[in-house]
Amino acid sequence: MQTVQIRLHPLDKQITAPRGSSLIDVLHEFGVEFPCGGKGTCGKCKVKLLQGEISADPKHKRKLQDLGLSPEWRLACMSRAEGDLVLEVGQYEAMIQADDTLFSFESREGYGVAVDLGTTTLVAQLVELSTAKVLGVETALNPQRLWGSDLISRLEAALAGNASELTRLIREEIGQMILKLLDGSEISIDRLVLVGNTVMQHLFCGYDIKSLSFYPFESSNLGVRHFNASELEWDIDCRQISFYPSIGSFVGSDILAGIHATGMWRRKEYSVLVDLGTNGEIVVGNSETLLCSSTAAGPAFEGASISMGMLASTGAISSVANTEDGLLCSVIGNVPAKGICGSGLIDAVAVLLEDGMLGEFGEIISGDLELALTDQVRLSAKDIQEFLLAKAAIAAGLKILRRKLGVTSDEVSHIYIAGAFGNYINLEKMVRTGMMCFPPDRFHKLGNTALIGAKMFLFSDIKFASELLALTRHVKLESEEDFQDIFVEELNFTPPSI
Ligand code: FES
Repeated sequence: MQTVQIRLHPLDKQITAPRGSSLIDVLHEFGVEFPCGGKGTCGKCKVKLLQGEISADPKHKRKLQDLGLSPEWRLACMSRAEGDLVLEVGQYEAMIQADDTLFSFESREGYGVAVDLGTTTLVAQLVELSTAKVLGVETALNPQRLWGSDLISRLEAALAGNASELTRLIREEIGQMILKLLDGSEISIDRLVLVGNTVMQHLFCGYDIKSLSFYPFESSNLGVRHFNASELEWDIDCRQISFYPSIGSFVGSDILAGIHATGMWRRKEYSVLVDLGTNGEIVVGNSETLLCSSTAAGPAFEGASISMGMLASTGAISSVANTEDGLLCSVIGNVPAKGICGSGLIDAVAVLLEDGMLGEFGEIISGDLELALTDQVRLSAKDIQEFLLAKAAIAAGLKILRRKLGVTSDEVSHIYIAGAFGNYINLEKMVRTGMMCFPPDRFHKLGNTALIGAKMFLFSDIKFASELLALTRHVKLESEEDFQDIFVEELNFTPPSI
């Protein structure tokens, strides 16, 4: 496999990537977000070509012109790395504006660190608080994955007596990431904000996990927790370290940060935020109330319950299209396909439905037990049923939250998609599966809203998070009287009427 070298400024990171890789695939691992989902409309993924060549086709050139960018700029979402490159990443220069409106930050003295503590990946950014400039990004895999990739395995491991080891490992890893961010400099950190789901919060804070492991899955330890560096055995100078508060049993501060990132909390119109990650969290509401739930949808989209499922990383089929020559699969990193990630799964099911290869209930019409997507990657009848369960969980959750607020789908003006693979989702295809039935032009893909929100929290006091929290209400879907009926109603792929 031929590779190219890409150097990123101002972080001075050197990356090796397969030749022809899309810059979305390469950069999103370095904390770069793609707020318009790669439509080329927001311009926030702009990169300046300091060395090397990225050819821009007429459409790309038009977008650059529309955005008023000079010839040395490119949009990463429309670019591929065909040769060695040195790039300046525009996003590291300014705060992400996740919302359509400008995010105005109050300039502060000093430096902040925002940490998204994910079940799978960890991302930390060092931010200059006077300019909101990102000075450094560190990513790592969550070391707890040795005990399994999903939350259930982590809970089981903690219950089996490994809780303190899980806590030690995660604290140590994040401490290391911060040291790397500081890179030997004498910088003193003014504030460090951590966000994550409730299980990650419990494991980081060292809380007893039992209450989250059994019905009714409640914990009295969901509030903010402040630390000092020595408690965490971190050799850094930091005035305030805070793990932000969770919303409810399985809806953590990552979703609170997502609510902040979308700006849905300050709008009169209704919005929806869906994070298709581990817990499949859903938020519906406006500036008066925000209802939040978690669904059991995550594992299918993260590959855990799919026979050849995998995370959105190199080798994963991320999209599937139907062409005259058969199915065309795009693979992250431009390498041979090893498996399929959430967005690929959504596409594959939609394409197979359109092709008449799947029936209304997801049955394989030919009677085969599996369907080949490429020479190596197959979807089994069971995978398709797993996807149907996940689709029904999201659709039923959305319906119940909307109904509780008395809001029709027509009244929802923005639908925000968060999550690691959100940027790759083909919205028309997702709508076809019936998972979220809204007009495609109302969707906004925001990428890692947890990190965006955590960064935004660096510019406000903890009091603001409490105010946001006061707007939210956690709804336990399984306790809703007709949840089962609505869930069963959604167990089909009938084309939606929008
Ligand atoms: S222009 Fe590339 S993500 Fe919006």
